[in-house]
Amino acid sequence: DSSWVRIVTAQTPTNIAVIKYWGKRDETLILPVNDSISITLDPSHLCTTTTVAVSPSFDQDRMWLNGKEISLSGGRYQNCLREIRARACEVEDKEKGIKIAKKDWEKLHVHAASYNNFPTAAGLASSAAGFACLVFALAKLMNAKESNSELSAIARQGSGSACRSLFGGFVKWVMGKAENGSDSLAVQLVDDKHWDDLVIIIAVVSSRQKETSSTSGMRESVETSLLLHHRAKEIVPKRIMQMEEAIKDRNFESFSQLTCADSNQFHAVCLDTCPPIFYMNDTSHRIISLVEKWNRAEGTPQVAYTFDAGPNAVLIARNRKAATQLLKKLLFYFPPNSDADLDSFVLGDKSLIK
Ligand code: PMV
Repeated sequence: DSSWVRIVTAQTPTNIAVIKYWGKRDETLILPVNDSISITLDPSHLCTTTTVAVSPSFDQDRMWLNGKEISLSGGRYQNCLREIRARACEVEDKEKGIKIAKKDWEKLHVHAASYNNFPTAAGLASSAAGFACLVFALAKLMNAKESNSELSAIARQGSGSACRSLFGGFVKWVMGKAENGSDSLAVQLVDDKHWDDLVIIIAVVSSRQKETSSTSGMRESVETSLLLHHRAKEIVPKRIMQMEEAIKDRNFESFSQLTCADSNQFHAVCLDTCPPIFYMNDTSHRIISLVEKWNRAEGTPQVAYTFDAGPNAVLIARNRKAATQLLKKLLFYFPPNSDADLDSFVLGDKSLIK
């Protein structure tokens, strides 16, 4: 009988690194040159929703991203599909009369449809949410028994930062030592309730797709930037320990100092790359100045900023009061000049954690 379809839908929020991953020591397995730490956003904003289906009537694996079919022939998709298939287990759904034996999974094909509710490839970690969601949904579809950490090592092979989206709260991607990448995976540091005063505001400076993909940017940095190697060896290991401490103690002063310094150093590595990579623009720089001046004037930091591979600012306010003041300042200093801008200017002001 080829009439049945088994369907699973999953939703995964994106994550924003506060200690950045930049540089691979193995490009195929996606193994990083340093540990990184991120915050997973609230799922009601900035998330990917992926529906996966399997049916004997499907004659090939296919995928649609935001309604448009994309090719699955790339190594990253193939690696994720192969790794999950290898872990597929028997499925029995008596209600629907579906029984799939473990060995059947080799012959069955899947269809996947994925939607981002935010701009794709604009430096807002769309691939992070995307691959995490695809791997998680496929694992449930195929009844794989792996833990989220084990699944994170598979999502990592789709996009490095994706491994951190398998958990909520604060998450660390441990770089690992094994050559096959088996110990390069995500672990949750604290859950989403641990530090629920924080409010994250994302100022969409530009929703255009970035010019330098993170893959080619990282490759060029690893090959040409001395600062990258110094950072990975001498700076990040200590910062990771300090950041873990700051998170555990909910120490916003230390947290914001480390977050801003690490973002600035990542962009310094980009500038140190030959040819240099510019992800931030004038507006990004003006947002940094605004936050730096305000924090200094207050005496204690109110807001931390961090920028990924794009000009958009991720601003982390210490509490709702600081977030409200920040929004007022942003709107005062960066008035949107049309209704269209207003729509996209502030994408989310959701508290990180509810
Ligand atoms: O996982 P990728 O290839 O999208 O790279 C992500 C790189 C940064 O977003 C700049 C940093 C990070 O740790 O997420």
